[in-house]
Formats: sequence, structure tokens, C-alpha cells
Amino acid sequence: MYSNLRSLIFKIDPERAHFLAIQSLKLNLVSNIFDETKNDPLLKTKLFNQDLDNPIGIAAGFDKNAEVYNPLFKLGFGFVEVGTVTPLKQYGNEKPRVFRLVEDQALINRLGFNNHGSDTILNRIKSNKKLGVLGVNVGPNKDSNDRLNDYLIGLEKFSEVADYITINISSPNTENLRNFHDENKLKELLKSISEKKNN
Ligand SMILES: Cc1cc2nc3c(=O)[nH]c(=O)nc-3n(C[C@H](O)[C@H](O)[C@H](O)COP(=O)(O)O)c2cc1C
Repeated sequence: MYSNLRSLIFKIDPERAHFLAIQSLKLNLVSNIFDETKNDPLLKTKLFNQDLDNPIGIAAGFDKNAEVYNPLFKLGFGFVEVGTVTPLKQYGNEKPRVFRLVEDQALINRLGFNNHGSDTILNRIKSNKKLGVLGVNVGPNKDSNDRLNDYLIGLEKFSEVADYITINISSPNTENLRNFHDENKLKELLKSISEKKNN
């Protein structure tokens, strides 16, 4: 059945397929199909002092705007990481920007942190009580004059709602983001984050 469904889904533009997946999860029709396995005590995991029902989570980039984390918990994920969220909303790169590599069973994404922005996403999380361990992945706006400060904004905003926060310094789709891999720049960023945390 999946292979039939797959050939149908593969007729849809990949970014549109992602959008449709989010829309169908939003309808909240997901039953707790994996609940029995999910609740198996064998799968319980402790990570960074967080209790997880199971160790399989969904990575950043699927629920970029924190629209469907609760349906994802119901589906059985042990944690959900939303984002990447930037301080201000941004469109991301020009379309098309997601490409299927069918033969390689892979996908290339060049989305470039398209998201609704930190205020909208924070309010969405505040008004939708999370049913599991929720991570928020933060990054800088493409046109920011102070990218380091953008991480601090993300940290400050989401620390009240997130169980953990991830800083994205690895995306190849925001020009020069990987400059933070430079030892001194990374030290400076981590020092600023520690100071912010201790404030
Ligand atoms: C369409 C798409 C969008 C993504 N967007 C983000 C993102 O916004 N932030 C991020 O940290 N990672 C993003 N990722 C990377 C994923 O979080 C993950 O690291 C990557 O898909 C590798 O994990 P996998 O092998 O389980 O797919 C994205 C991946 C895909 C396929």
C-alpha cells in the first residue's frame, strides 16, 4: 500500500507535499496508533535530565512553525524539535528549494529558514499546551546585522516554553552561517549564551 501511496505523493511538488502533511496533521485526525508500543517501559529514556517516552524524536525542519507538535506526540514521537525559528519572520530562499533525489532515496533542501518568526511561534506554543518534550531550534535572520544577538533573542524568548533549545550553526542554506564554526566565533557565541542563561 505504501508503494502505491508513494508514487502518488511523488507526483506532488516536495514542498507542497510537506505543506499538505502539516495541514493533515493540523486536522488532528491522527489516532494514537502507536500508543501501545510508545508506552512500552522498555523505551523510556532519560536524556539531559528529560524523561522521554521513547528515544525517537522528530528533527527540526518538519514542524518549522510549531503548528503540529501535539499531533506528532500523538503519533508516537518521544520528542519534537520545532524550528528553525528566527527572531523575525522570513520567506527563505526562492522556490523551487526542495528537490527529491528519487534514485538515492534522498532529498535536498535549500529552504533557508522560512518561518513565521519568534513572536508568532512563541504565542502559538503558549496557547497550545505541549503533550511531550518540546525542543526549539533557533537561528539568525538572513539579513540580520547582529547574528550572534539573534541567537540570544531566541534563547530569551523560548526559554520559558521549551524543554531544550538548539542553536543552528550548521545550515548550509544561510550564507556564512557556518562562520560560527570558527573556533573564536564559536567560543564568543557560547560565552554569550552562558552569560544569558545565568542572567
Ligand atoms: C525539508 C527539510 C528541512 C529542514 N529544515 C531544518 C531546519 O529548519 N533546521 C534544522 O536544524 N534542520 C533542518 N533540517 C535537517 C533535519 O533536522 C535533519 O538534521 C536532517 O534531515 C537529517 O536527519 P534525517 O537523516 O533523519 O533526515 C531539515 C531537513 C529537511 C529534509
